[in-house]
Amino acid sequence: MTFSSFTRKMRGRMRSNTCRIVLLTSLVWVIFDFVLITRYSDCIGKDGWRCKRSGEFDVELPNAEPLVDDNQLVDDNEINTEKSLDGDSGSAVIMGQGFASGGISMTYPSVSLKKWFLAPTVEETKGKPGEMGKPVKIPADMKDLMKEKFKENQFNLLASDMISLNRSLTDVRHEGCRRKHYASKLPTTSIVIVFHNEAWTTLLRTVWSVINRSPRALLKEIILVDDASERDFLGKQLEDYVAKLPVRTFVLRTEKRSGLIRARLLGAEHVSGEVITFLDAHCECTEGWLEPLLARIVQNRRTVVCPIIDVISDETFEYITASDSTWGGFNWKLNFRWYRVPSREMARRNNDRTAPLRTPTMAGGLFSIDKDYFYEIGSYDEGMDIWGGENLEMSFRIWQCGGILEIIPCSHVGHVFRDKSPYTFPGGVAKIVLHNAARVAEVWLDEWRDFYYAMSTGSKKQQSKKLKTKKNQQTKQSNNIFKTTKTILYCVHLTPNFKNYSLSIRNWL
Ligand SMILES: *[C@@H]1O[C@H](CO)[C@@H](O)[C@H](O)[C@H]1NC(C)=O
Ligand SMILES: *[C@@H]1O[C@H](CO)[C@@H](O)[C@H](O)[C@H]1NC(C)=O
Repeated sequence: MTFSSFTRKMRGRMRSNTCRIVLLTSLVWVIFDFVLITRYSDCIGKDGWRCKRSGEFDVELPNAEPLVDDNQLVDDNEINTEKSLDGDSGSAVIMGQGFASGGISMTYPSVSLKKWFLAPTVEETKGKPGEMGKPVKIPADMKDLMKEKFKENQFNLLASDMISLNRSLTDVRHEGCRRKHYASKLPTTSIVIVFHNEAWTTLLRTVWSVINRSPRALLKEIILVDDASERDFLGKQLEDYVAKLPVRTFVLRTEKRSGLIRARLLGAEHVSGEVITFLDAHCECTEGWLEPLLARIVQNRRTVVCPIIDVISDETFEYITASDSTWGGFNWKLNFRWYRVPSREMARRNNDRTAPLRTPTMAGGLFSIDKDYFYEIGSYDEGMDIWGGENLEMSFRIWQCGGILEIIPCSHVGHVFRDKSPYTFPGGVAKIVLHNAARVAEVWLDEWRDFYYAMSTGSKKQQSKKLKTKKNQQTKQSNNIFKTTKTILYCVHLTPNFKNYSLSIRNWL
């Protein structure tokens, strides 16, 4: 071989090697990007990465930027078979039916309804910090103290302590809401608030906001459930304080750390009102929050209603109104997410932003449910631990057991959202959350549970025999879920590698 042909060959080989290296590197990057996107695509919002909010203890951030315009809420009656299921690469899940026969009666006997009057507006106390929902400014010389106290509850405790327990708020409702008239007689409700090591001022501001802004005739009692708190002031001091409140209020205690679900069940057992209203321990109810919720339930006892959850800033305690055009959804990891309300649901409501909004799932921290209906559908899954997934579980339960789940845009309740959970999860957060999610998948998702197992890293199949408890099965069967007259369809987006799978499901439907 001549020297020149040798160099030509060498150059050729080098060129093809370089090509190979370049190709290989690009391939690695493509795979890396793909993994990154599928893992984190739920967390990308308008303001960048929002994953930090996912550790939130009780509910998700209500104004988290929707990713998908899942334009797929359908009533069976309205299904335009051609149009309703085509379009994007989502798979549709039957959420359940609107009306079932049998079980509890749809309406209340009139003896159990009470005549009510509007609660007077809480007037502004001039000169107090945070009045009218304004942010609290901490003086510069107190910044160190503020940082120190922040750690106790993962919100600005110093600011909270400066604000009146009776703080005034602006009327955040849509104008159309203020003109609405509700039934003159409504069922009574008991408020159930679960807490664990809550701060004194946030807990009592929640209680006072309920007392101040609910029609007194409709407020049966306030039940505080202490899930094994370790703080002294939440002991006898709290009991003595609530004993003097103008509305019957009492404290129940779980003997050991039981988690949100079991603590709520303990509270529910003691409810003497017609309707149970669950609230978180760091909320503020706004003017006219309660009557629109009860007014929906009085029309159909199987309607479960949530207020719009506004944001109380964890930094300044400013009251910030949340969007009224998001609804609750979920992804295949069974994480709750807020999404933009699809135009189909807007049309069903005649584009009236004050009309009740049917939502596939709820955030879970705040909602009202008829007490008998709550037990008819089997209440909560007692096998779930501490926190996580119970909101999806309850949402699926409602839709699959003849109920309707709605967000009532005329009812607003503020909630302190935190970046980090100040609580302990025995055995680790991931383990508990995955355990709970698998229970949701096994009990309520039937064959779609495979999507959950495929999409959620670290999930482990649960012993489905153990999970398909008699209670859950009977509840589902007695409600005859597949003989639906009204169906809500919800599309969950899938990553490209699931495209074929989702198509076959859609055809099967
Ligand atoms: C809140 O206001 C009521 C009167 O509306 C009053 O009786 C009560 O003492 C106030 N509570 C606090 C903690 O200031
Ligand atoms: C999807 O279906 C097409 C056509 O049936 C097939 O060629 C392709 O390999 C499938 N993709 C996957 C990921 O299974």
